[in-house]
Amino acid sequence: MLVTNCLPTMKNDVTSQPRSDRRDFLKKGAVAGAGFAIMPSGSLFGASAASNRLNIALIGAHGRARAHYATLHDENVVALCDVHQEKLAFGTKEFPKAKVYEDWRKCLEHPGLDAVLCCTPDHHHAFIANWALQRDLHCYMEKPLAITVEEARTVRKTYLAKKDKLATQVGMQRHAQDNFPRLREMIHDGAIGELKDVHVWGNRQIPKPGYLPAAGSPPASLNFDLWLGPSPEHPYNPGYFSGAPGANCLNWNMYWDFGIGQMGDMGSHTMDLVWNVIDAELPESVESTSKETFNPDVTPVELTSVFHFPKNDWRGKLRVTWYQGGAMPKSPFRWVDLNKIGHGALFKGDKGYVVADFSKRLLIPYGKEANLTYYKPRGEDELAPPLGHFQKQWTQACKNDRPSATACNFEYSANMIETMCLGLVGFRAGEALEYDGHQGKVVNNAAANAYLTKPYREGWTLNG
Ligand SMILES: NC(=O)c1ccc[n+]([C@@H]2O[C@H](COP(=O)([O-])OP(=O)(O)OC[C@H]3O[C@@H](n4cnc5c(N)ncnc54)[C@H](O)[C@@H]3O)[C@@H](O)[C@H]2O)c1
Repeated sequence: MLVTNCLPTMKNDVTSQPRSDRRDFLKKGAVAGAGFAIMPSGSLFGASAASNRLNIALIGAHGRARAHYATLHDENVVALCDVHQEKLAFGTKEFPKAKVYEDWRKCLEHPGLDAVLCCTPDHHHAFIANWALQRDLHCYMEKPLAITVEEARTVRKTYLAKKDKLATQVGMQRHAQDNFPRLREMIHDGAIGELKDVHVWGNRQIPKPGYLPAAGSPPASLNFDLWLGPSPEHPYNPGYFSGAPGANCLNWNMYWDFGIGQMGDMGSHTMDLVWNVIDAELPESVESTSKETFNPDVTPVELTSVFHFPKNDWRGKLRVTWYQGGAMPKSPFRWVDLNKIGHGALFKGDKGYVVADFSKRLLIPYGKEANLTYYKPRGEDELAPPLGHFQKQWTQACKNDRPSATACNFEYSANMIETMCLGLVGFRAGEALEYDGHQGKVVNNAAANAYLTKPYREGWTLNG
């Protein structure tokens, strides 16, 4: 029997199946496809065979979404959502069969959905992620996933209750670069001895005085009210929409109601380089300093946040310092100019340093053991296997029995972004804060707990 001949019927059958039956069906297909088994007919029954495709809603159809189109063409994009009709048109050109929506709350009710891939602005992330999980939908969320401590905690809690059946991933795709596992192996294998201290930085700077003033009316093609979504009211200004596709986020992500500035922008990627090594959950304390004073409209450009993490089973207590917007750690050696590394990390151990960016690492042993006799690099067969295609790691996980095995699932990523958000809470509080991660409370400054969340417009609920 030719497998391909029966595919259209199978596809129609599965879209009308109840979600749990459909999930079993996709898993079976993925198991069959895992080794790209050649069927008796000679046809290839791989992950992209039509019977084994996910029914996906793409929310935020243009901009960053363009980086996902190729992966999505291996699945069924059955629903597209955008608040801007012109951007939606780019999506429908790419996926002409998809049903279109303007409001993501309605899009999530599209019948037969398996999964959601979301590329909207950051102030919708935790809402969409949480609503998708509540509806038993797998979810790929662009970074940063959340813009407050409360948002990160809510998404993590919902995810943990469903992690055995739902696959999640946050868009920190640099994680697929080889340097990530190599850096982890190097430090875990003792290349710098016992890990003592970490510095991590990013130099992107986009200073703004405040929210943009009212300037004209939104074009008829844009539903500005839905763009604002859960955020408090702000007047329309075309300046929020004037960026190149995929870089427009740099026009709104520094405003408190729409993002968390560099903590969530490049910070998501650069802290990931560290997070992948240190096996941390949440910090016990944070202290942030800046040359700037608190601006109620705009997140700080220049900032240093010092986090202290409890010890774990392979390392002692650890200090991690985040620097942004011109704040920088001191180089341990005159001849290593850290300022030449735009986004990077410096790991200090009791036997040496590693300096790294996303693609390279530099080991600097010091002291009596600088001959490196204490450290043996792994053999090729002992290296962690390549992660492969980052987005496809998620689509595969949606179809297999280990949905939580994605690199940047919502537990890993929510812990990381909760930590970054705490850096901003520390900045607003203006003093060192002690944090109880179990309860999600600042324990030495009651007033600072107000900064763990933010106001939303009436009618929008995070836990919907
Ligand atoms: N992983 C990465 O390297 C990377 C790179 C760039 C951007 N991003 C992330 O991607 C996201 C989008 O960034 P961008 O620069 O494309 O922004 P953008 O402002 O261009 O928005 C992207 C799309 O979402 C649509 N949109 C806005 N509000 C919406 C809503 N409520 N519902 C549905 N659609 C909506 C916009 O009309 C647009 O088509 C951000 O969260 C950003 O952090 C990630």
